[in-house]
Amino acid sequence: MNAKISPETIDAGQAIYSKKILMIYDIWVLGISNTFIWRCPTRHLRALFSEHVSNNHLDVGVGTGYFLDKCLKAKERRVALLDLNPNSLAATADRIQRFSPEINQGNVLAPISLQGEKFASISINYLLHCLPGTMTEKSQAFGYLAEHLMADGVLFGSTILGQGLPKSFLANKLMRFYNEKGAFSNLGDDMISLKAGLKRYFEDVEVRTRGCVAIFVARTPKLIAK
Ligand SMILES: C[S@@+](CC[C@H](N)C(=O)[O-])C[C@H]1O[C@@H](n2cnc3c(N)ncnc32)[C@H](O)[C@@H]1O
Repeated sequence: MNAKISPETIDAGQAIYSKKILMIYDIWVLGISNTFIWRCPTRHLRALFSEHVSNNHLDVGVGTGYFLDKCLKAKERRVALLDLNPNSLAATADRIQRFSPEINQGNVLAPISLQGEKFASISINYLLHCLPGTMTEKSQAFGYLAEHLMADGVLFGSTILGQGLPKSFLANKLMRFYNEKGAFSNLGDDMISLKAGLKRYFEDVEVRTRGCVAIFVARTPKLIAK
């Protein structure tokens, strides 16, 4: 394994999500940071989620379960969760217990074993910038997830890019601080490498940006061995 994606660096990307941090996550990240620092107000990510979520959905890197809670309407649906951190899984499962979610603890940078049929939609919001390694290495996660997506399904998500998009002084400072702590590993992430990572595993890829956030939608998994 590459030293940059050792068990320690993978752990650092999720270890920050203690119960206390999760209690302030929605206000600090989804409220303040998205609007004033990353310049991608959360309503844009909610619109993405609402547009693509299906009745047979897997959310990956669940955090507090904000998008599942705010964007899912009907009760009769399958919702599955995948995260490495038990605090994130517990907080989200509790928040959306009305959907009786399937709970899976696992690492997206390794082959993923999930029960049941494939999913019609998979979301992966704000997880890639937490993962260690280059975008080529972290986009291996798309390959592992593509194996759990129906042929006509959709994978969508967002990630904060470290390169190539305009950033304020404050955004630069905060991003460097998070990278030093290991909570983010995104200083080399840019649009070209993100698109290439998605295109390696999907035929149809759309990527757009808002502030320093990339928003992506990918369809038609290639399912080729990489
Ligand atoms: C920044 S939060 C994103 C929360 C939510 N998706 C959102 O957009 O608000 C990142 C989540 O990814 C999880 N995570 C970090 N590294 C992971 C890994 N290697 N495999 C699976 N989950 C991971 C963390 O535990 C955390 O719950």
